[in-house]
Amino acid sequence: MQQRRVTVPEIARRKGGEKIVALTAYDFPFARLVDGAGADVILIGDSLGMVVQGQETTLPVTLDEIIYHCRMVARARQRALLVGDLPFLTYQVSVPRALRNAGRLIKEGGVDAVKLEGGVHVADTIAAIARMDIPVMGHVGLTPQSVHRMGGHKVQGRRHGEAAGDRERVLADARAVEEAGAFAIVLEGIPTDLAAEITETLTIPTIGIGAGASCDGQILVLHDVLGLTEGVRPRFAKSYADLAAAASAALQDYAAEVRGGAFPTEAHSFAPLVALEKKRA
Ligand code: KIV
Repeated sequence: MQQRRVTVPEIARRKGGEKIVALTAYDFPFARLVDGAGADVILIGDSLGMVVQGQETTLPVTLDEIIYHCRMVARARQRALLVGDLPFLTYQVSVPRALRNAGRLIKEGGVDAVKLEGGVHVADTIAAIARMDIPVMGHVGLTPQSVHRMGGHKVQGRRHGEAAGDRERVLADARAVEEAGAFAIVLEGIPTDLAAEITETLTIPTIGIGAGASCDGQILVLHDVLGLTEGVRPRFAKSYADLAAAASAALQDYAAEVRGGAFPTEAHSFAPLVALEKKRA
């Protein structure tokens, strides 16, 4: 029996209420686990460029690649709301291009909503996508697509000022995202007091990552949670398992058994024809 799905209005109503649990996922087997664990939102994030493709930044990820991963996740989803990330250059060039690309994520990727990074400068784009009845999740603060402007994946909002990444500007960006019609917003890599101020100011739910406990929900990158990003995991991400160690041990056992002749045994082989004929006789 199909489970009742989490909807956009339900997420919007969670403001100040039960915390929203969000995680990324990029493929069928892990999406099934994330959905089964009760996540409210699954984001097919452009973080896949770093944790799946092995790139240094999210910038090279294409729309076709995101769509490919969205489809795998959509096949596994029973309950969670699916949000697909619009990658770099798919929404910044022009509003008509952004509309077409957001539409492709819904139509071809099978997601329920799209996410894009930025505030004041993308407000018109958010409004146009939302007018097309495609729900939009915003994303301000440490926006990985701005990695070169930030000089790395660095905490934002620590300095007073109106320039991109400054405290007052991050607040203005969050307000602009809400006014443009987004149903929720990701706050990434900002001081806890700024995240608390934004959460108090906005009427849409805030979903934090490296933004402290006062947000209306939390999101983490799946590979960080499962311990698959040793050495490159950001300080704000918590690892709840060491899958890298477990996988590595299993693969070493397999290699040792193949080399030593312990695998395969009869249990993993097909009986020869002669033996089968004898059994039947
Ligand atoms: O791409 C992504 O996974 C994200 C989350 C970290 C919020 O944007």
